[in-house]
Amino acid sequence: MKTALVTGGSRGIGLGIVEQLLKNDYQVAINGVRDQKNVQPLIDSLNINGVRVVYFQGNIGNKSDRQRIVEDIQQKLGPIHVLVNNAGVAPKKRKDILEIDEDSYDFVMDINLKGTFFLSQLVAKSMIESKIHYPKDSFCIINITSISASVASISRGEYCISKAGASMLTKLFAVRMAAVGIPVYEIQPGIIRTDMTAAVQEKYEQLIKDGLTLDKRLGIPQDIGKIVSTLVHGELPYATGQIITADGGLMIRRL
Ligand SMILES: NC(=O)c1ccc[n+]([C@@H]2O[C@H](COP(=O)([O-])OP(=O)(O)OC[C@H]3O[C@@H](n4cnc5c(N)ncnc54)[C@H](OP(=O)(O)O)[C@@H]3O)[C@@H](O)[C@H]2O)c1
Repeated sequence: MKTALVTGGSRGIGLGIVEQLLKNDYQVAINGVRDQKNVQPLIDSLNINGVRVVYFQGNIGNKSDRQRIVEDIQQKLGPIHVLVNNAGVAPKKRKDILEIDEDSYDFVMDINLKGTFFLSQLVAKSMIESKIHYPKDSFCIINITSISASVASISRGEYCISKAGASMLTKLFAVRMAAVGIPVYEIQPGIIRTDMTAAVQEKYEQLIKDGLTLDKRLGIPQDIGKIVSTLVHGELPYATGQIITADGGLMIRRL
């Protein structure tokens, strides 16, 4: 059975991805920062159909946590075939770029960019090794970045910078992993209904009513889960390094 690691898979977009991967018969390693006891009811509810879901607690921004997570997954579930780099944070407080402090910058960058980069490095090395032992197996890496990789929001500049960096990470790993036939993709969600957007949901709903998106609704985690499912099935061949924008048409310029 193939194993997928979904960082930040305990809620929001990550959980939407986990649910879809389970339907596709993957055994899933969920990573998050909360204690095991807080996510146990979720893990139990996901395990009801006899599938294998295991929680691996840890902060992806922390080196020893990353190493422990990857080693534990390999020990309990075997080689990692799919890495979905989904875990991410918004600034604790939105502030104008002229007011952002270094703590907020470091908090966001350590998780969204540094953590994602070094976790990708660790898992990529393990995939290269696994590919030697299981040459017929398919592997892939999927990065969940954001339209914020290119849309400037001056009230959360550190977030935009982290996502722009993570988008370059897609290209870098796509090039490096092409040498072993492992594709790397990126999904850029627009506005998705999760805890991350809860505080600004009303504002976004009004903007959507006023025509911000072509699809007149907020996105939902399942939208992103279905795209991940398409990618892991190899249904987007000859397209490594590509970005799939899932924003209901928000990024289309209109006149
Ligand atoms: N929502 C949107 O509109 C939107 C749009 C574009 C892109 N995105 C991106 O999509 C991803 C998921 O967003 P979301 O809206 O689903 O967020 P969310 O509801 O806030 O969930 C965040 C997830 O990330 C985990 N996490 C946070 N910090 C972590 C860390 N240091 N190490 C490991 N896991 C960590 C959380 O774990 P716990 O449950 O343990 O706290 C949680 O599972 C993020 O990268 C975000 O930037 C979101």
